[in-house]
Amino acid sequence: MARPRVLSGIQPTADSFHLGNYLGAVRQWVTLQETHDAFYCVVDLHAITVATEPAALRRRSRVAAAQLFAAGLDPERATVFVQSHVREHTELAWILICQTGMGEAARMTQFKDKSAKFGEQAASVGLFTYPILQAADILIYQANSVPVGADQKQHLELTRDLGQRFNHRFGDTFTIPEPYILKEVEKITDLQDPSAKMSKSSSSPAGILDVLEQPGPLRKKVMRAVTDTGSEVLFDEENKPGISNLLRIQSALTGTAIPDLVARYEGQGYGTFKKEVAEAVVETFTPIRERTEKLLADEVELDRLLAIGAERARVVARHTMAEVRDRVGFLPSL
Ligand code: TYM
Repeated sequence: MARPRVLSGIQPTADSFHLGNYLGAVRQWVTLQETHDAFYCVVDLHAITVATEPAALRRRSRVAAAQLFAAGLDPERATVFVQSHVREHTELAWILICQTGMGEAARMTQFKDKSAKFGEQAASVGLFTYPILQAADILIYQANSVPVGADQKQHLELTRDLGQRFNHRFGDTFTIPEPYILKEVEKITDLQDPSAKMSKSSSSPAGILDVLEQPGPLRKKVMRAVTDTGSEVLFDEENKPGISNLLRIQSALTGTAIPDLVARYEGQGYGTFKKEVAEAVVETFTPIRERTEKLLADEVELDRLLAIGAERARVVARHTMAEVRDRVGFLPSL
């Protein structure tokens, strides 16, 4: 029997992924390539929904792809590609845009949050339709599951609704995907503000741990992470959100259960604990950074790997689109 399929995407909007991206998504992508037919894309079309400098976009797209391979994605097993290389994504997005209600799109909280920054009137229409392009990314590959962090839940709900609506109106065409979200790592929070998620667009530099950052600054940031009153290392989301976040990070990085960590640090205060969290972060990130640097040193090879990914992705996307065009009623183009 064919393997179930996964698809996910990440935006090339920063010069490095951060710990939230890594624990919430990319690490699962690597695991899932063993059991699934895996498609992962660098979503450059999504990146341009906010003003983006062309040279920065080019650089960040390669940095993103290099980090994916460096984190353990194997180009032989996983299809890693750049979204804009597969034109069918935009074509399907248009068709799905025409199936989406204005009110339905206006309910998306990420649009509300992001557009609030520069004022809703100044936000691009692309930012408004962003989740529909995301639905196209997923549906075009007939993905069974989508590994993401908690912030993507609402977009996946919309994807399911649009897939079901299309199937209902035009006949069974799309697989309806399930979110794949690991509770323990679904929301890694900002080191300086444990009530907010760690985010490339809104965290302060002190609140975010970048995968490509050097060990020195990484250690400093963990040591300076806001901690809560008291001195006991305890998992208590309500009263100790900062310590709880660090415990979640430590547990995910070392594979030690949280109660075992709590027992280990009993009576030791925050200092020893933070030092060990910092070491776990540095140990995880250093090899990824070194491999990323190597991959970026040979752009020709990196672009070749992405071309192979795009070719494999196109085969699936074209197949779905041929069916979609026919179902919608477009004449065959001879
Ligand atoms: P993006 O680029 O913002 O983030 C990439 C992935 O990282 C996860 N993530 C987190 N997980 C846990 N804690 C955090 N603090 C944290 N911050 C980010 C995100 O949930 C995401 O899984 N809209 C998507 C990109 C996208 C996509 C897709 C995803 C486009 N098309 C199709 C899945 C399928 C986004 O902005 O991710």
